[in-house]
Amino acid sequence: MTGEGTADAAIEQWSRIPHEVLEQMEPDGDFCRRHLLNPVLLQMLGEVSGRRIVDAGCGHGYFARMLTGSGALVTGVEPAQGLLTYALEKESQLRQGITYIQADLTRAVDLGPVHDAVVCNMVLCAIEDWRAAMRTCVGLLRPGGRFIFSVNHPAFEQLWTTWREHGEYRVWRYLDEYEIPGSYAWDFHRSLSDYLNELTALGCRIHRLAEPRLDPAVAEQAAATAPGIEAYTHLPNFLVVAADL
Ligand SMILES: C[S@@+](CC[C@H](N)C(=O)[O-])C[C@H]1O[C@@H](n2cnc3c(N)ncnc32)[C@H](O)[C@@H]1O
Repeated sequence: MTGEGTADAAIEQWSRIPHEVLEQMEPDGDFCRRHLLNPVLLQMLGEVSGRRIVDAGCGHGYFARMLTGSGALVTGVEPAQGLLTYALEKESQLRQGITYIQADLTRAVDLGPVHDAVVCNMVLCAIEDWRAAMRTCVGLLRPGGRFIFSVNHPAFEQLWTTWREHGEYRVWRYLDEYEIPGSYAWDFHRSLSDYLNELTALGCRIHRLAEPRLDPAVAEQAAATAPGIEAYTHLPNFLVVAADL
């Protein structure tokens, strides 16, 4: 699968997530975002009040709303019409002052290299031409600005499903590039060194990596409705990277 047409097809898939599913993720995202990603992203961002932050590939905008609630000046960038419409509806209800623009990160996004931070939460793994998207994100930073991205951990991408099937994690083609079907769209596998080497080639210095672990007490509470969730207490399903320009 390659090319611009397939990128548009992927964006179209994201656009089809039903409104009621998005509502269920209010106010702070789904289970994994709430328990694994948000705490790390917020810690890596530090104090956000008064800072100009881009939520790149913001989806339905939950993280943009969280950041704005803490005083950040947020621009959400999202190409999928369905998700953007939801985010704009929330903005017209809440009037937080978030700016949204509809744009594809694999193309130039004309917001200027002026931002204190760019957050790209579970987006690069959804984009086939992720190098172009990463370049766009870094290009939005002021000198010294921070780029933070999360992806499915390249070594444990299909953690929950594999664990449920085998009671352990199995990986058999880490060095290949391949697609992983998801509930609404597909993700793309590439290696850890691909992500990190591209980042340094763009002039960024790695500040911190995180491989968040689920709190065993939270896993125990969720076990009845989410069998196999204990996998997240043993292996990291996500990789979060903070780097400075
Ligand atoms: C897993 S969702 C994450 C959304 C949001 N960041 C969150 O954490 O809820 C992946 C997002 O990537 C977006 N996306 C896919 N292709 C994109 C592209 N070429 N440029 C920008 N965003 C893209 C999708 O529309 C979707 O919003």
